[in-house]
Amino acid sequence: MPTLQNKAKKAVQKLTKVAKDSIKPLTKKTKKDLATMQDLFLVQMKDLYDNEKQLIKALPKVAKNATSSQLRNMLDHHLHETKEHAKRLEEIYTMMGMNPKRQTSQGMKGLIKDGAEVMKMKAEPELLDAAITANSQHIEHHEIAGYKATIEWAKLLDMPKAAALLERNLEQEIHMNDKLTALAKQSINKKAASTR
Ligand SMILES: [Fe+2]
Repeated sequence: MPTLQNKAKKAVQKLTKVAKDSIKPLTKKTKKDLATMQDLFLVQMKDLYDNEKQLIKALPKVAKNATSSQLRNMLDHHLHETKEHAKRLEEIYTMMGMNPKRQTSQGMKGLIKDGAEVMKMKAEPELLDAAITANSQHIEHHEIAGYKATIEWAKLLDMPKAAALLERNLEQEIHMNDKLTALAKQSINKKAASTR
């Protein structure tokens, strides 16, 4: 028969356990860099934030090299959107009680470098526009993949507000990619083909 004292002891132990479970640390202190899904989410957030920051710096240079006014306007407009994307990511960091962090995205760095290499070439403007459009689409696909994965993780981590903010960025990246596809089909690629 459990004594009254034992019953009280068990009740205290139970309460302590509930209290511990209800305050989950964002990152468990272990020797692993990736120990929890929160860690994975944060690693990806740093990558997404760096993507946007790198693009804010690169897009004006790319737009300057475009000859097609439609392409230039599209890139200028996307610069404004990209600044919004960075702000939404900062909002997520604030919601988590953290300062924004970035870690160099080697993927984005490489894609921007690919674009810069083409822009250094002596090229017919129509061909350069086609190359800039294709490079911009590579960049959008890179961002789209990153947002899609992170949105799923935010949902699994019970972070609906973060998921909604990420969704808004994703929608604009998809829209930008669609606009680039349409412009390439309607005029950019046709003009490029006229150099044959
Ligand atoms: Fe973006």
